[in-house]
Amino acid sequence: MPSRIAEIRLVSSDHEVYEPCDDSFALVDALLADRTNLIEHNPKICMEIGCGSGYVITSLILLLKNEVPGVHFLATDTNPIAARVTNETLEAHGVEADVICTDIASCLEKRLAGSVDVIVVNPPYVPTPDYEVGMEGIASAWAGGENGRTVIDKILPVVDLLLSEKGWFYLVTLTSNSPSEICLLMRKKGYASRIMVQRSTDEENLIILKFWRDKDQEMLDKETSSSSSFLSQFSRSLSSFIEKQWR
Ligand SMILES: C[S@@+](CC[C@H](N)C(=O)[O-])C[C@H]1O[C@@H](n2cnc3c(N)ncnc32)[C@H](O)[C@@H]1O
Repeated sequence: MPSRIAEIRLVSSDHEVYEPCDDSFALVDALLADRTNLIEHNPKICMEIGCGSGYVITSLILLLKNEVPGVHFLATDTNPIAARVTNETLEAHGVEADVICTDIASCLEKRLAGSVDVIVVNPPYVPTPDYEVGMEGIASAWAGGENGRTVIDKILPVVDLLLSEKGWFYLVTLTSNSPSEICLLMRKKGYASRIMVQRSTDEENLIILKFWRDKDQEMLDKETSSSSSFLSQFSRSLSSFIEKQWR
């Protein structure tokens, strides 16, 4: 049976490009866990921002291939070597996507506004001094600036612009990025969220979030909920998520 996700032995590499790691695997695990829903979602345009080696976008294509006809896949990265390596990974798996070397999604925003059904992002999230953000080569893969949020906070409004009414957004975060605050920011834009995967490694505590537009919640928020009650709700759901995983 053909693999449902990219095979590591077929993933191309370069010392200037981020190799698939725990965060990439956690993101693909979140997509795998949501596979049935993704198929029912019937997306027409799917996009990865910051594709690196191409492991994630190739996995997303393989997950949907043969199940959802006529999907258009796009991937962006600021690193031109990552764009080349992603193309090699796609080719090695016999699948296709448009790979564009650009900052987040500039040059695509106008054309794709309101039409992307699935966006996946494993951003540079490691807390670093701000001057390290956007440096050339491999450093741009992890340098996330203050609290690891500099690039994430630039990506969120772009995602809001690109997503279709039914759009879904999957984002890799660390606890030090304050995922609850990210959810609150997105909630103010009208998105509901849930934790898809929580994983602790020796070095980091990863949380993969999923967002979708929720009109009812937007209305309810305007009428009732306060930020502090949302933040305490989030920490309760994170604790219960962790508890369930340990049982
Ligand atoms: C943590 S790596 C993830 C790579 C790959 N998606 C994975 O999960 O293995 C982050 C990627 O985002 C790219 N990146 C950093 N800043 C970016 C930006 N402003 N726009 C697009 N890509 C960016 C980096 O070059 C790097 O390839």
